[in-house]
Amino acid sequence: MLHAKNIHKAFGGVKALQGVTLTIQPKCITALIGPNGAGKTTLFDIINGLIAPDTGELFLEKENMTRLPSHIRAQRGISRTWQAVRLFKHLTMFDHLRMAENNEDTNILKNIFLFSKKQTHTCHPEVRGNAQHCRASKDHYELVLQKFGIDRSPQTLVSHLSYGQRKLLQLAMVSLQPHKILLLDEPVAGVNQVVQAHIENVLLKLKDEGETICIIEHDMEFVQKIADHTIVMDAGRVLMEGSPREVLKDKMVLEAYLGE
Ligand SMILES: Nc1ncnc2c1ncn2[C@@H]1O[C@H](COP(=O)(O)OP(=O)(O)OP(=O)(O)O)[C@@H](O)[C@H]1O
Ligand SMILES: [Mg+2]
Repeated sequence: MLHAKNIHKAFGGVKALQGVTLTIQPKCITALIGPNGAGKTTLFDIINGLIAPDTGELFLEKENMTRLPSHIRAQRGISRTWQAVRLFKHLTMFDHLRMAENNEDTNILKNIFLFSKKQTHTCHPEVRGNAQHCRASKDHYELVLQKFGIDRSPQTLVSHLSYGQRKLLQLAMVSLQPHKILLLDEPVAGVNQVVQAHIENVLLKLKDEGETICIIEHDMEFVQKIADHTIVMDAGRVLMEGSPREVLKDKMVLEAYLGE
């Protein structure tokens, strides 16, 4: 599905990525793990085009993405969340979901300032961006929020949400965006057990629906519960790959990742 080939990236003297080659397989959950500073987020930034690699290439379903700008990659189906939650505090959940679902550049302001008051609009009814259109309503977003375990009205302002609810909203947004692959940077970092259980259910459900998901995660218990495949990074390199069980048994991984 997604293939990174010999990616190098340095920030001044810091070699963040030193020849990373990996493949993310379709219709499963891949976990990218590794200690702080291993280069995980840098790799996501390069995959979604936020930063350019010094050398190396990136392919999505055999199409070379390396020189495509970020917004074109998003249109091709690369959808991601950020390590730090990035939302507009003074907009509602409805506004955010609306923006995510219909995220053409020219529509963003229209979505916020015109359509949010009307409560009815065109949208993609299916996750993964089926091109079919529908007339969606507040009820549509209530269902979306329900699916993602957010028990609040779509009209709730983001500033009134808990941290966990913001993480869930971010997840709902990214999966509403038309996409082929979801890249999630630390989806359960800082959330309580209840929210973590919601996120676990949501991710497993998305996988059952045929989604391709790659998560960066430090919580190995969580990784063991949901990941089909694990890629371990350390100091800008891929250290090893395998099932969560296999990598956790590996001596090199324990040394690099857990300091044992
Ligand atoms: N914009 C930047 N400018 C300078 N150095 C950077 C920049 N982004 C990342 N780095 C450095 O590159 C290395 C890899 O960072 P990265 O954020 O990719 O690690 P990570 O594996 O995501 O770590 P964490 O688990 O802490 O999120 C680190 O040494 C980091 O300090
Ligand atoms: Mg990171």
